[in-house]
Amino acid sequence: MQGEVRIDKLVKTYETRQRKGLIKSEMKLVEALKGVSLSIRPGEVFGLLGPNGAGKTTLIKCLTTLLLPTSGEAWINGYRLTKDDNAIRATVGCMLMGERGLYWKLTARENLEFFGALYHLSPRARRTRADGIIERLSLGDIADRTVETYSSGQKMKLAFAKALINDAPLLILDEPTNTLDLPSARELRAVVRELNRDGKTVIYTTHIMAEAETMCDRVAIIDRGEVLALGTVPELKASLGREEVTRIEGVISAGANEAVGRLAGVSHTALTAVNGHTQLTVVSADQRALLPRLIEALVAHNALVQKIAPEEVTLEDVFIARTGRTLAEDTAVK
Ligand SMILES: Nc1ncnc2c1ncn2[C@@H]1O[C@H](COP(=O)(O)OP(=O)(O)O)[C@@H](O)[C@H]1O
Ligand SMILES: [Mg+2]
Repeated sequence: MQGEVRIDKLVKTYETRQRKGLIKSEMKLVEALKGVSLSIRPGEVFGLLGPNGAGKTTLIKCLTTLLLPTSGEAWINGYRLTKDDNAIRATVGCMLMGERGLYWKLTARENLEFFGALYHLSPRARRTRADGIIERLSLGDIADRTVETYSSGQKMKLAFAKALINDAPLLILDEPTNTLDLPSARELRAVVRELNRDGKTVIYTTHIMAEAETMCDRVAIIDRGEVLALGTVPELKASLGREEVTRIEGVISAGANEAVGRLAGVSHTALTAVNGHTQLTVVSADQRALLPRLIEALVAHNALVQKIAPEEVTLEDVFIARTGRTLAEDTAVK
C-alpha cells in the first residue's frame, strides 16, 4: 500500500579496514543495524530518534536502496526491497546528505528540473513541478542563481525541495533541519506538516528530542542499531510508569552523580554540561521522598546546587531511563 513501510529484522554490517601502523591493516565489522523491525502506517509522520551513531542514516540508506542490507526484509509502498528497487525509488522522495546531493554549478530551478528528468518526467511536467516547489518553499528570489552562491540554509532548503520533485507518497528525511538556523528549521517543519496534511507519509530522523516530540505521530527511539522503544509521544512518556524526573543545575562532579545513582529509589541518572554549568537528570520513583536524601548526597560531594526542580517527563528522559545516557552522546561503534 502507498505510504506504508514494513521492516523485518533488518541487519546491516559494515566491513571496514582499520589502519594499524603504516602498512598493516585489519578488517573490522561494524554492526550498524542489529535486526530492526518496525511498521510505518500510511499518513503518519514517523520519527526515528537516536543519538549520533545510532544507525538512523544506515536504516534510511537501506530503505532508499542506496545500501544493500546484510539480511532481513522490507516492503516500501508495497514493493519488496532488493526485488523492486526501481519502483521503490520512483515512489520515495528522499533527503539524504543535505547540500552534498546538489549540483553547485546549476541554479535551483536547473537542479530541480535535472532531478525531475531522472524520474522520467516530461520537460513540461518537470518545469511545472519545479515552479510549484519553488513557490511552495518561497525559493523564488534565489531560484535562478547558481547553488554555489547560496547560504548553507538555502542549500538545505533546496535539498529538501529536491525530495519533492517526484511527488512521492512517502518522504524520507534524514535530519532535515541539521545546520539550519531556528527560523528556517521552523519553516521547514511547517512545510513538512503541510505535506503530511496533504496525505504524504513522512519518515523523519533526528537526534533532537524536542523535534521528535513536536513533529511525529509515532517515534521509534533507536540506539546502537536497535529499536529501544516505539509508540506515540504520550505512550513513550507513559512507559516510564511511576517514575519522575528531577533536574539539578549547578556544579556537579562525576562522584556526586555516582552517589546520587546509588540512592534507593533512583533508577537512572545522567550528567551533562550545559552552557558552562552541569545538569544532572535523575529518574526516580518517589521524588518527594527522595529530595532530602538527594540534596544530602549532593552536598556531601561538594556539589554547588543552583537550581533543583521537578520536570515534565520528556522523550530524552525515556532515552536516559533505557540507556543511562543522553541523546547528545555519540554512540557510534568504535
Ligand atoms: N560506511 C561506513 N563504514 C563503516 N561504518 C559505518 C559506515 N557508515 C556508518 N558507519 C557506522 O555505523 C554506525 C551507525 O551510523 P549512522 O547510520 O550514520 O548513524 P546515525 O545516522 O544515527 O548517526 C556508526 O557506528 C557508524 O560509525
Ligand atoms: Mg545520520
